[in-house]
Amino acid sequence: MSIPTPSTRSIARIVRGMPTSDGAGVKLTRVIGQPQLTDLDPFLMLDEFGTDNPGDYIAGFPDHPHRGFETVTYMLDGRMRHRDNHGHEGVLVPGSVQWMTAGRGIVHSEMPEQQEGRMRGFQLWINLPARDKMTAPRYQEFGPEKIPSVSVEGARIKVIAGQVSGIAGRIAQPATDPTYLDIELAPGVRFSHTLPAGHAAFVYVYEGAVRVGEAAAPLDTHQLAVLTEGDTVCLEGAPSGKEGTAQPARAILVAGRPLREPVAKYGPFVMNTREELMQAFEDFQSGKF
Ligand code: FE2
Repeated sequence: MSIPTPSTRSIARIVRGMPTSDGAGVKLTRVIGQPQLTDLDPFLMLDEFGTDNPGDYIAGFPDHPHRGFETVTYMLDGRMRHRDNHGHEGVLVPGSVQWMTAGRGIVHSEMPEQQEGRMRGFQLWINLPARDKMTAPRYQEFGPEKIPSVSVEGARIKVIAGQVSGIAGRIAQPATDPTYLDIELAPGVRFSHTLPAGHAAFVYVYEGAVRVGEAAAPLDTHQLAVLTEGDTVCLEGAPSGKEGTAQPARAILVAGRPLREPVAKYGPFVMNTREELMQAFEDFQSGKF
């Protein structure tokens, strides 16, 4: 019997985010959930928001519903107040993570808790399997001090979900078994990470440039690489900008187990069938969320 040799994950395709607006007019970049990459099972959407201009974010996301999936907000800069119809409320500060399982339904608002300054972060939508779509809403919320951080040969990694060098992130979601790492790499610094076999995975660079595997050109800021199947992904900080600056690159590495179930989605409702989608509308309109 032979033992399979570990394989390297390389770039399957590169996607650039698309400028759009959502909520009451918040400007953002949609990376997953747009024509170039409609979804990446189990990931339904990835938005990057980042601006110094209050006019781009001040209107926020007033009351809106969700059913059938999870929203993950990772703040880099700025403060956002969250309030839902079940009495849950809190402020997301820089470095904090809110992993919200919408389950059978919540109505919430996500509003900036500041009049000026920088607002920056990500919101990722992750699908729930059919058996969990109508589960009770649940939050996993962690302030910056609760997100473990680890240094591996010069690479600095915040472990939001998954495990690096025996350090485990706090997020638990057995259905999709997610990995969510925020990685900082100075030019020339390398980081290799073995992802669970069969998991869908992507790298999104949000500062500087990162070389993925043996790719000829580094992945640039605001580019997402969908990774091929395999085991290990190798990332290396690349000099970026015209002069080739020595600023560290920053990227998120995200992976999860695909659900391989039918998806019926409309806006903030993500179910398996059209009938369930109609039911979601009806339940929302009759105040059952
Ligand atoms: Fe929301």
